[in-house]
Amino acid sequence: MPHLLDPFTIKSITLRNRIGVAPMCQYSAIDGLMNDWHAVHLGSFAVGGAGLIIAEATAVSPEGRITPGCAGLWSDKHIEPLTPITRFIKSQGAVPGIQLAHAGRKASAAIPQQGGAHLNSSSGGWQTYAPSALSFGGDLALVPTELTLTEIAHIQGDFVNAAKRALLAGFTYVELHAAHGYLSHQFLSPLSNTRTDQYGGSFENRIRFLMETVKAVRNVWPDHLPFTVRLSCTDWTEGGWSIDECVNLAVQLKAAGVDLIDSSTGGNVHNAKIPVAPGFQIPFAERIKKESGIATAAVGLITEPAQAEEIIANSRADLVLLAREMLRNPRWPQLAARALGRSKDLPPPIQYARAF
Ligand SMILES: Cc1cc2nc3c(=O)[nH]c(=O)nc-3n(C[C@H](O)[C@H](O)[C@H](O)COP(=O)(O)O)c2cc1C
Repeated sequence: MPHLLDPFTIKSITLRNRIGVAPMCQYSAIDGLMNDWHAVHLGSFAVGGAGLIIAEATAVSPEGRITPGCAGLWSDKHIEPLTPITRFIKSQGAVPGIQLAHAGRKASAAIPQQGGAHLNSSSGGWQTYAPSALSFGGDLALVPTELTLTEIAHIQGDFVNAAKRALLAGFTYVELHAAHGYLSHQFLSPLSNTRTDQYGGSFENRIRFLMETVKAVRNVWPDHLPFTVRLSCTDWTEGGWSIDECVNLAVQLKAAGVDLIDSSTGGNVHNAKIPVAPGFQIPFAERIKKESGIATAAVGLITEPAQAEEIIANSRADLVLLAREMLRNPRWPQLAARALGRSKDLPPPIQYARAF
């Protein structure tokens, strides 16, 4: 029976345990450049014992940022500040991952501290693009411009270039963001994609943008390194993207060389009713793993060591990812190891050896 503190090998990478840090936007980059904040934020999780640390949604183009404070990898100048971050994470025995993203119609928003609403051009915002000219609604009311075929191909090229830069920056694990109502998810869901060309309509057409992007990035991302996708497994809305479609997509992603699905939900429908509760998204990770045979990560209100251990021991997912609980306590993995009687498998950093 696998244990939370057991290593997990995915391609040529072995995570020291089954605990990962989910990607979390910090809204603290300038011109997309990460800085000392990101180094300390991400580095603290490495000190705390996580096996995997996935850096925040990192935009593949300036227009793909959610907010002006979001990180990016759209030029070579973005590589340099990332290098010490990945080096430090590795020095602590953790694996540095990065999430590559394009926000589509949810781009051009204020940072949360400033309300999070869409910014128009006079307040520092920019033109948004999406599969269809449909606004998200609520505070994100800007109507995006429908992408042309040329623009779609251009964005896919941006993903490829960002992946190459991520590799140069030292990341050894990549996750494409196709969840939470951002661009790839906008293509997947019939609620945000009403195109009548080859990128809209049927299931095969709606998954085309993601499948093509995956295949293009897979070509430049080394075969021996983990290549993963985050999906929203449901729109929580009648007539929207569903878990049944998600399982079918997972089968095709696996065949295209994807190694793991990070199984989240929601984010594409304003005011969707989401039954938030401890571990509420685990059944999605479980179903994708069982029915498509691909490895999965479970995420969402996983906060207790015994809860995380149950998920792994029963093979409901291969990894657990924690977000908010890691912000509360970046040493959560070490405390979980102690709570589960496995402290010796996750000793504190050597610098603290004298203390413990
Ligand atoms: C501050 C913050 C920033 C987040 N940024 C991202 C992000 O960049 N990409 C993403 O896919 N999810 C993002 N999320 C969602 C988390 O990765 C995670 O899926 C969600 O918080 C549920 O996990 P939790 O209950 O452990 O917090 C963010 C969540 C928080 C709290």
